[in-house]
Amino acid sequence: MILLKSQSQTSVPFEQYPTFMLDVIEGLAKSQKEIPCKYFYDERGSMLFTEICQTAEYYITRTELQLLEQILPEVSARIGGNATVVEYGSGEGRKIRDLLRALQEPRAYIPVDISAEILFDSSRRLKREFPGLAIHPLVADYTAPIALPELPSDGQSGRQVVFFPGSTISNFNPAEANRFLRNIRGFLRPGDVFLLGVDLIKSPNRLHQAYNDYDGVTADFNLNLLRRINRELGANFKLHQFEHYAFFNPRYSRIEMHLLSLTDQVVTIGQHQFSFREGETIHTENSYKYSVDGVVRLGHECGFRHEQVWTDTEKLFSVHYLSAK
Ligand code: AVI
Repeated sequence: MILLKSQSQTSVPFEQYPTFMLDVIEGLAKSQKEIPCKYFYDERGSMLFTEICQTAEYYITRTELQLLEQILPEVSARIGGNATVVEYGSGEGRKIRDLLRALQEPRAYIPVDISAEILFDSSRRLKREFPGLAIHPLVADYTAPIALPELPSDGQSGRQVVFFPGSTISNFNPAEANRFLRNIRGFLRPGDVFLLGVDLIKSPNRLHQAYNDYDGVTADFNLNLLRRINRELGANFKLHQFEHYAFFNPRYSRIEMHLLSLTDQVVTIGQHQFSFREGETIHTENSYKYSVDGVVRLGHECGFRHEQVWTDTEKLFSVHYLSAK
């Protein structure tokens, strides 16, 4: 058994380290330091993400909402009645409400989220707005295969629709995106639907602005990760000695977000020490930008027929209707 020392000097078995701690110390031990982007979303991080979505520069949320408003009647006609909607993520927002309102008598809604608190909170709110809708919240990590709850069969069930908006798929690397789509295909029946919102490749300058907003909300969101590590893992990151750094990497067609060390420094997390050279970075997020063809290919590779794509007039964002083969 590997033993590591905790802050209080007593040895804590490595196996008992919380996953967050393990991921951070493992990530910071790599030659390119990194921390998984899922740790952005503590309470403050989630609030800051909501604020990012409202900045003038971050076109994604606004564009997707406008696009959905235009296409939902057509989407609904394709899906048909009595659908069961599965949504990955908390489903708090306008998008799921707009979809549920557009559908013809949706049968059930299954929101899937790793955070039970967020999930039950948003389900309770949604239930008040859609009293006739059966809501079955499912606490699960949707990056791994999941089993959906068995719903009572009344002989009239329509299609299952997996809704994955917001271009959250952008934060998976290509292998993860592929695995994710295959997992979804695994529990769908032929003809069931995967409705996917994806951000498109565009001018690097436009992308750069979206991740470097003038008011510094994205910078705050990125730096908040260090604040969270200080608070939850007893680290001593000095936030003013790090800077938000986001740029488009054309080689991988992705925005990369990093935290750049402004000086040579040593940071302590419990009994672990990590040294940073001036200019060295912690890679905190990738946001992959797709072409429409890229999404078509991904769908085909994972057992879907790509039936329809809708984009806004500026071709900033796309919504894809994929059906299980
Ligand atoms: C959640 N995700 C799709 C966002 C994105 O654009 O990759 C997260 C984000 N990071 C910085 N700004 C927004």
